[in-house]
Amino acid sequence: MDRYLRNCWVMAGWADEVGEAGLARRLLGKPVFLYRLEDGTIAALLDRCPHRFAPLSRGTRDGDRVVCGYHGLTFAADGRCVHNPFSDRIPAGSTVPSFAVHERDGIAWLWAGDRDDADPALIPDFAFVPDTPHSRTVRGYTLMQANYEYGTDNLLDLSHIEFVHKGTFAGQGVIFAGEHAVQVEGETLHSNWWMPNIAPPSVAQGAFPPDARVDHWLDMRWNAPASMRLNVGVSPHGAGREAGFEVPQAHILTPADEHTTHYFWSSTRFSDLDNPQVDAMLLTLFGEAFDLEDKPMIEAAYANVRGKDFWKERPLSLGIDQGGARARRMLEAMIAKEAAGG
Ligand code: FES
Ligand SMILES: [Fe+2]
Repeated sequence: MDRYLRNCWVMAGWADEVGEAGLARRLLGKPVFLYRLEDGTIAALLDRCPHRFAPLSRGTRDGDRVVCGYHGLTFAADGRCVHNPFSDRIPAGSTVPSFAVHERDGIAWLWAGDRDDADPALIPDFAFVPDTPHSRTVRGYTLMQANYEYGTDNLLDLSHIEFVHKGTFAGQGVIFAGEHAVQVEGETLHSNWWMPNIAPPSVAQGAFPPDARVDHWLDMRWNAPASMRLNVGVSPHGAGREAGFEVPQAHILTPADEHTTHYFWSSTRFSDLDNPQVDAMLLTLFGEAFDLEDKPMIEAAYANVRGKDFWKERPLSLGIDQGGARARRMLEAMIAKEAAGG
């Protein structure tokens, strides 16, 4: 079943995963080979030779060209076959599909639709990801055996923190003290939690005295198909957000196929920049939270409904899940609009 949104950018990988040797990754149900051209930009080809279907990622490079490792057909970065070792004639139908890729914010974004429609202005903003003199980002990746929309459900409903993340972020019930608001602006959805006048949550450890009262927020922004930014913030109670601090995080999901999802995540800090111990501590914490807490729960839940239609399974609604439900409806409407040629 192929029901992906086409006219959108998906994260193919962290930009530094794509070197000259290239990166082979399944995206939206297709094998894709990404590699870096001599001018530093990234090319992406379907990772499947049209002759006997060898992955082009198993081939070699001749400048910007890719030479199939099986029988030597050679392809330019735009997918055109430019050399046939068995004849002067280039066979008809030998062009490999190619994809537009745009590198921004340390991320390789791939346009899932027709490359002529690719508009970099539509890439969601993740400008906080690259390191600056004032910020440091830790990043990670995990492969989930679940459909990507179940990952979106998880991220747009952060009430699960209290239950799933008992070993990491669980906040002694603070999420229940909060208000949850879901808002849509154009094609962007916001699912925001606001928890005023609470004891400092674990993310604020050390920044406030233990008996302090703080305001805490978790602002999640979603763009189709599943690219999310989370701002985790804490400020002294009543002092306004500017008086506190904020940790921006990327939570970007890209379908590998219907049942498998690439989960790219990052977290940025503005203090303790050159402290590798802080990097290691954060990587351990997030690794535990996402790999050992979220992933097994999402995968096990998905295994119960794998291949079935989400709505036909009649999921209960608890109110807290309205962000995820709304994102599902928005995405369905966008896919239906595309299918209708809109
Ligand atoms: S499979 Fe690529 S040239 Fe034969
Ligand atoms: Fe989680």
